[in-house]
Amino acid sequence: MGIDLKLNRKMAQLALLQRIELASPFQKRTRKLLGRYLFSNFISKYLISLKNISENYSSLMSNEVSIMHKFLKQNQNILSIGGGIGGLEVMIMKEFNLSNITFVEKNYISKKIRYGWDYKNSEGYNNLSIMRDLLLDNDISSSRFKIINFDREKLPKDNFDLVVSLYSLDYHYDFNIYLEYLKINTNKDSVIIFDTIRYKYFKKIFKEVEIIKNNENTVHKSKRIACKSFR
Ligand SMILES: C[S@@+](CC[C@H](N)C(=O)[O-])C[C@H]1O[C@@H](n2cnc3c(N)ncnc32)[C@H](O)[C@@H]1O
Repeated sequence: MGIDLKLNRKMAQLALLQRIELASPFQKRTRKLLGRYLFSNFISKYLISLKNISENYSSLMSNEVSIMHKFLKQNQNILSIGGGIGGLEVMIMKEFNLSNITFVEKNYISKKIRYGWDYKNSEGYNNLSIMRDLLLDNDISSSRFKIINFDREKLPKDNFDLVVSLYSLDYHYDFNIYLEYLKINTNKDSVIIFDTIRYKYFKKIFKEVEIIKNNENTVHKSKRIACKSFR
């Protein structure tokens, strides 16, 4: 099963910046030796294999879809927070072809990408026009998606059935940035999926918290949780 996503070199570069596990051992070594600046601006641009990144990114995203599959349904109104180039979302939209999606993302790439908690939430690793191209190149009609620039636009008033945020919300920056917005723009049956290193904290925020992936022994050191019903 699974879909082979169509990526061009610019998309592959972003995928590598957003998912360090896509780096080859050589790329990881040179990142350590030469530093984050050269990795983000040179290695990720010129020293990549489009074929390898496309295949590995497709299988990574297909695996992520399978982990959340029981929460996916036809006709959902979906919010993606920090979806990166959007491969996961393409796969969901292809399988559930009556669903619609809104992306909230940043539209810049930090000079030296740091993969960790950022109190100021000043790190961005995306380019919204490349993300838009990826959706269109992979046959998602523009009538089914909206892309919102987190730093420039107002978040839309809506009622989302599903909120997906892999390695973004509460992984890189505080959940509280979106807390009030999510309370207002979801309903009691909505499911909110994200990665965090403090999952117990969310038992105070939601009535239901289910661990759906344990990443504690990987580079991510987090748990993925599916939450329902704000307290
Ligand atoms: C580590 S990447 C993960 C991308 C994608 N979810 C994935 O799993 O491949 C984190 C993403 O969060 C985005 N981001 C950072 N702050 C954000 C914010 N306040 N709102 C939405 N997205 C944000 C970054 O631009 C980046 O694309």
